[in-house]
Amino acid sequence: MLRLDRYLVTLGIGSRSQVQKIIRTGGVRVDGITVTDPGKQVDERSAALTLHGQPIDGRLTRHVMLHKPVGLLTAARDKKQPTVMDLLPEVYAAIGCMPVGRLDKDTTGLLLLTTDGELNHRLLSPGRHVDKTYRAQVDGTLDQRHVEAFAAGLHLSDFDAQPARLEIIAPKTGLVTVHEGKFHQIKRMFSAVEREVTALHRLTFGSLQLDESLEAGQWRELTEAEIAALYRDAQMEVEA
Ligand code: URA
Repeated sequence: MLRLDRYLVTLGIGSRSQVQKIIRTGGVRVDGITVTDPGKQVDERSAALTLHGQPIDGRLTRHVMLHKPVGLLTAARDKKQPTVMDLLPEVYAAIGCMPVGRLDKDTTGLLLLTTDGELNHRLLSPGRHVDKTYRAQVDGTLDQRHVEAFAAGLHLSDFDAQPARLEIIAPKTGLVTVHEGKFHQIKRMFSAVEREVTALHRLTFGSLQLDESLEAGQWRELTEAEIAALYRDAQMEVEA
């Protein structure tokens, strides 16, 4: 249960004083009834809210799949540069929907965002790192030696990359599946075998696969089946 005024502030409707004024002047209905007491307790999991007669989506838990385009930072906010959050309606930032991990500015593809901080943390924690598959285009041809080097695990300047699977799908394109998620990991792994990544695109994150109907820059909320599978990846119960 939440105070109505605080709930509406969390949903990004306005400041505390703005929403109190709207409530007191009869602008808000809860389950069809006008509520003029800003301190009224409402059940955020079931309340049907309207603002000046228009329904409000009051869900505080959301999970989003974004097809990240080139050129945006993966960050909750940045003072100078546009971020992936700029692609979503403001309410997502207001309720604390955050990217899970990071894709480089020039990397495209599947980015998960969630309001569930515990899920976010668990999907990234070293002991539970989930598999991620990337399509990498590189500046030279790939061959069996590269596949074997990735499978053996690569020695990078500051860490040893765990064995990874490389599947060559075109002379200069590979599908790489890694278990960990270090900074610039894929680019650095290719660099260790003298190939430079010229384009990087993430296709999967744990059980989640990028929806091919999403163009770069488009997003959608996860289906119930996708959410259930992700919570299984994180060994967690789905939040009510
Ligand atoms: N590895 C990289 O090098 N960059 C990414 O964006 C993701 C994985």
